[in-house]
Amino acid sequence: LVSGELKTWNGATSEVYSTISSTEDYKPTLLGTVPDLGENEAMEALSSALSAYDKGQGLWPTMKVEARIKCMEKFVEQMKTKREEVVKLLMWEIGKNLPDSEKEFDRTVDYIYDTIEDYKQLDRDSAKFEKNDGVYAHIRRGPLGVVLCLGPYNYPLNETFTLLIPALIMGNTVVFKPAKHGVLLISPLLEAFQSSFPKGVVNVIYGRGRVLATPIMQSGKIDVLALIGNSKSANALQSQHPKGNRLRMVLGLEAKNPAIVLPDADLDLAVSECLAGTLSFNGQRCTALKVLYVHESIADEFNKRFSAKVDALKFGNPWEEGVKLTPLPEVDKPKYIQELIDDALSKGASILNKKGGETTNNFIFPAVLYPISKDMKVYKEEQFGPVVPVMSFKNIEEPLDDMAESNYGQQVSLFGKNVNTLAPLIDTLVNLVCRVNLNSSCQRGPDVYPFTGRKDSAFGTLSVHDALRSFSIRTFVASKDN
Ligand code: G3H
Repeated sequence: LVSGELKTWNGATSEVYSTISSTEDYKPTLLGTVPDLGENEAMEALSSALSAYDKGQGLWPTMKVEARIKCMEKFVEQMKTKREEVVKLLMWEIGKNLPDSEKEFDRTVDYIYDTIEDYKQLDRDSAKFEKNDGVYAHIRRGPLGVVLCLGPYNYPLNETFTLLIPALIMGNTVVFKPAKHGVLLISPLLEAFQSSFPKGVVNVIYGRGRVLATPIMQSGKIDVLALIGNSKSANALQSQHPKGNRLRMVLGLEAKNPAIVLPDADLDLAVSECLAGTLSFNGQRCTALKVLYVHESIADEFNKRFSAKVDALKFGNPWEEGVKLTPLPEVDKPKYIQELIDDALSKGASILNKKGGETTNNFIFPAVLYPISKDMKVYKEEQFGPVVPVMSFKNIEEPLDDMAESNYGQQVSLFGKNVNTLAPLIDTLVNLVCRVNLNSSCQRGPDVYPFTGRKDSAFGTLSVHDALRSFSIRTFVASKDN
């Protein structure tokens, strides 16, 4: 969908493989091919988005609110008819299990409807006048221009759309490059994009990020970089923009969210929440718990119960009943996880669970590593995969100091009961991260809540409500009469 038209591509293509295999002999399965576009097509998509925006005078940025909402409603209605196809591709392309794939689709649809409702409210608010010093102001929100949108492989639909949808509804035009894994599942939606929005408003390009995004950034012609991914890519892209330090960006980046389990915590609850927090979708979530701090008085009991629960998790194909652990979409990930395990073992940690480190197809069974020290790679790096580092602590200052020194600051999970202990702790934690989860694991949802982070974890905020503001600017008409 370049230049707002669905084109047949006769040039180079790339093959998309799945690491899921229903056969005994593991062999990646060929799922399909996608165009491998080059610089020319990237620039064609950019000029299409630029001319649809037409310096703010195009049909889309000047369209009436009601008409823009109609386009978005048409899109979401058509999108809903593709549920089965997209869910199947989520399972095959990224190995997400069936309930989580269905949830990803459904929450994305909800996000679009919530965005429409919030946009209507924003419009109602803009009808109100403000008066100061004899001047009436009619405040509105206007688009920013052309947005380059890049999404991640772990939520190729939901995360990408939480950038794309608010950017579009606010009147911006978009060049969108899907992630490497989870690229095919965008194809069923191309016709819906084409038939719902005016020509050139949505431009989808397939290919390698470096080849496509670099010339777009270097052109200096985009107004917003919207990316969910890692800070290294975000920094590289920003530096390619001629006015990098003045480029508007909306970024969701990496995190190393900790759990802190206090001596009076409900241990069963802490264990089950930490299990979901560390290992849902094999730990491939920016919101995953990536290090567990357990008070030394309860560490042995916590470790025993937690390790047993990890070993009880079912591994298999994503569509099988009760499966929690699945093959990883990145072929080099098991090797990386093994490196983290080997490094931790060589520095004094042990694997607490029996199955930890076993490999099957493109999968490595999660290892619970204990005790972790700060010189280990698994402590220093965002593992983004199935390995769980556990540390014990004596004084609460230990995890707090680590969090203060960390490059990240997205969320924390805090487990405990005594309100007199929890209250002052929460007051400190909210200055280190942006969301404190009390007796529950870290997560993004419900998507109406602010999704952001401190330091290298984010730039801008992506709740439904905040995202509309992130992709727009406040403008107003001033007058002496109301
Ligand atoms: O990778 C980051 C996602 O936004 C996580 O969302 O907490 O709902 O899994 P989630």
